[in-house]
Amino acid sequence: MDDTKSLFKQTGLLIFGILFLSSSPVQSQVMDHSSMNMEENEMKDRDKTDRMKDIQNMGDMKHTDTMAVMKGKMIFQMSCFLCHGRKGEGDGPVSMFIGPYSHPRPNNFTSGIFKFRSTESGDLPMLTDLMRTIREGIPGYMPSFRNLGEDGIKSVAMYIAKEFIQEELPTTTTIKYVKHHGPYTYSAKSAWRGSLLFKIMKCNECHGNDGKAGRMDLKDERSLMIHPVDLTRQETFGNGTSHEDIYRTIMTGLDGTPMPGYNDSFAGEEESAWDLVHFILSLQGR
Ligand code: HEC
Ligand code: HEC
Repeated sequence: MDDTKSLFKQTGLLIFGILFLSSSPVQSQVMDHSSMNMEENEMKDRDKTDRMKDIQNMGDMKHTDTMAVMKGKMIFQMSCFLCHGRKGEGDGPVSMFIGPYSHPRPNNFTSGIFKFRSTESGDLPMLTDLMRTIREGIPGYMPSFRNLGEDGIKSVAMYIAKEFIQEELPTTTTIKYVKHHGPYTYSAKSAWRGSLLFKIMKCNECHGNDGKAGRMDLKDERSLMIHPVDLTRQETFGNGTSHEDIYRTIMTGLDGTPMPGYNDSFAGEEESAWDLVHFILSLQGR
């Protein structure tokens, strides 16, 4: 041990740094921690900061983000891969049993096509959109993962973004989310105006005049058969059933399905989209 100490003194802190970096058990035995002076302690701290910086620079991510993505990976491999597949391509071992002949199957996250967004048609979802879907689940197809807690939900959403989407997600949207107020708060009159819009905008061509059924000849982007949602049954809605959720669905549409977004049609008169929302609510007796 004494030899080693004198070695340190002779060759200075450089050697110490090298020994510290390559921390194999043999070398750490050689280090006599009790004999470390202040300078050596400082050196150790500096090494630590360097290594932290390495981790931080990993993919330009903050250290906390890297940790979150690692946690998200663990969650994904436990709770999601059976349906979404290890590579997020929607081909997990049970995916075929979910939609053998018809829509939906679990998403292929690498395709960049997302149904449930608050962003324009064709755009990627925001992180909060992924989080909402994971938190709420999709009735009939995907369980709610509320029990992961907000941290867990965010981590696994970040993992999907980093690992499968591999693009920066938008943090804002150009779609106008106006509140329903004045003549557009819920009223029989607003719902009635909505019933007119439903025909004028040709929603009925797919959803039927009563909103119940509709066209049977539609296909999704994977050429799987898809039926318009029965608008009288809120339990079949995948994108949420609150007033705000239905407004969002109408504005953004559901990418990858024939359901178009009507953001452009309502440009400048976003308020009147609430009439349609109220009509749909009235179909459900709400
Ligand atoms: C039982 C199968 C199943 C499991 C388990 C599952 N999912 Fe899903 N998931 C689906 C299906 C099916 C869809 C597509 C539903 C649709 O298109 O209406 C989907 C859609 C999604 C979407 C929406 C993408 C879009 O288009 O907007 C996200 C995000 C998602 N899943 C994340 C997860 C995460 C994260 C987990 C694990 C914590 C998970 N899923 C577990 C079946 C599953
Ligand atoms: C070209 C056909 C088509 C037209 C036109 C259309 N839809 Fe749809 N809509 C669909 C399909 C298909 C679905 C089911 C998508 C799915 O299963 O994810 C759907 C789903 C919906 C949903 C339920 C979304 C959810 O949460 O699952 C609502 C609400 C809706 N449409 C409202 C409307 C309104 C309002 C209009 C007119 C402004 C309209 N649709 C026009 C085909 C259409």
